[in-house]
Amino acid sequence: MAVEILIADDEPGVRESLAEVLRDAGYLVETASDGSAALRAIEAKDFAVIVTDIRMPGADGLAVLRRAREVSPQTVVLVMTAHASIETAVEALRAGAADYVLKPVLFDDLLAKVERILEHRELVWQTQMLRREIEQHVDLDLVGKSPAMREIQKLLAKVSPTQSTVLITGESGTGKEVVARAIHAASQLRNKIFLPVNCAAIPESLLESQLFGHLRGSFTGAVTSQEGLFSRARGGTIFLDEIGDMPIGLQSKLLRVVESREILPVGAATPIKVDVRLIAATNRDLRKMADEGTFREDLYYRLNVVNIHLPPLRERREDIPGLIDFLIQRHRRDLKRPFKGVDNAALKLLMSQPWKGNVRELDNVIEHAMIVGESEWITIADLPRVLRDKDGDLGQIVGDDLREALRAYEKIHIESVLRRTSNDKRAAAERLGLSLSSLYRKIEELSIVLET
Ligand SMILES: Nc1ncnc2c1ncn2[C@@H]1O[C@H](COP(=O)(O)OP(=O)(O)OP(=O)(O)O)[C@@H](O)[C@H]1O
Ligand SMILES: [Mg+2]
Repeated sequence: MAVEILIADDEPGVRESLAEVLRDAGYLVETASDGSAALRAIEAKDFAVIVTDIRMPGADGLAVLRRAREVSPQTVVLVMTAHASIETAVEALRAGAADYVLKPVLFDDLLAKVERILEHRELVWQTQMLRREIEQHVDLDLVGKSPAMREIQKLLAKVSPTQSTVLITGESGTGKEVVARAIHAASQLRNKIFLPVNCAAIPESLLESQLFGHLRGSFTGAVTSQEGLFSRARGGTIFLDEIGDMPIGLQSKLLRVVESREILPVGAATPIKVDVRLIAATNRDLRKMADEGTFREDLYYRLNVVNIHLPPLRERREDIPGLIDFLIQRHRRDLKRPFKGVDNAALKLLMSQPWKGNVRELDNVIEHAMIVGESEWITIADLPRVLRDKDGDLGQIVGDDLREALRAYEKIHIESVLRRTSNDKRAAAERLGLSLSSLYRKIEELSIVLET
């Protein structure tokens, strides 16, 4: 796309020759012969660069600069000034001008400045993209070996390469966003943007313009036109989180987008095509909401093409040890302290919690323990008081039968020792006080899965 530049100067000679130099360099140039013409031009469109003289009839360069900062903050402004008014140049820099050039203008000098500024802008933009991508690449690991999580992994492998809309459901903290990111990362769009939008966090009055964008002047306060999130996510994945909290009025607009793959920015007359993959998530029961009339049924069907449901952590307790290891690794990086894991008593207690806040709550508990803990192993003493004071016995999970409880604990214990010896069965057997063959038998009997 050609870069658009506005040149504002009341001296026709300067204005036209400058325009010619920039046009020759491949830019799209508009000119304004005084301050008011410049103001009109910047109201009408967003330029990449404005080169403006300071002293002009109508409005001076500073006024043009200030207005440009207001209506189009991304625009870079360069001011031209005569030697005599260097103070004005300083004032311009303070008001947000990117640079100034002295008059008489050396064209090559100006061209070089414009090029450098645009390069810098591109660089900043690229760094931002890169940073966003790096941020996206952390936390992609989807930990879990329980039958439920294995099913989810399988489904994920099937659905990721398609462009299908996916609805991820599950209680708060079960890992819905982790799954959404994993889908994106395993899709062809992995190098494109993954844009999460929390539908519950944006005030209803702003949600529409945030999602679809708006044109300048389309409503009071819309001083600049703004690109919507849908259009920013073009070519990538948009993640509509907390979709159950989207106001019903907006749901019909979203439905239109999902059906036609077109968005209509607020105040615009013609829709724009957007090619974007949609993933939605909610901890609410959309089916029930649809029955009650608080969620559009047609939208529900459109979103629920593929449903991935994350069961609460208390229904897949066998994932807890693996998650703990993963979370310890993750915090170890920040805390820069060696941590090996949780000891048996602490693990037992952690395995028996109700985890109403699911993995997020577990994560908080682990982080807490790693901050207060002093040894390499997390012990019961490092766990938050509330957990310790509760009656955290294994019987809550496996029932009251003693043999069942012992078996469950035996399994947890052996798994934990195996983990600590990195699956070295000989070393594990020694620590457990078992012969190697008895350990093999236990692994069979208790269907212990060795974590890789
Ligand atoms: N299977 C998993 N593997 C690794 N980490 C997980 C897993 N599930 C959840 N987590 C971690 O737990 C935390 C909560 O996960 P996430 O934000 O995805 O939950 P959520 O379902 O989106 O919750 P909410 O509904 O509250 O937004 C995050 O720190 C995430 O990294
Ligand atoms: Mg979430």
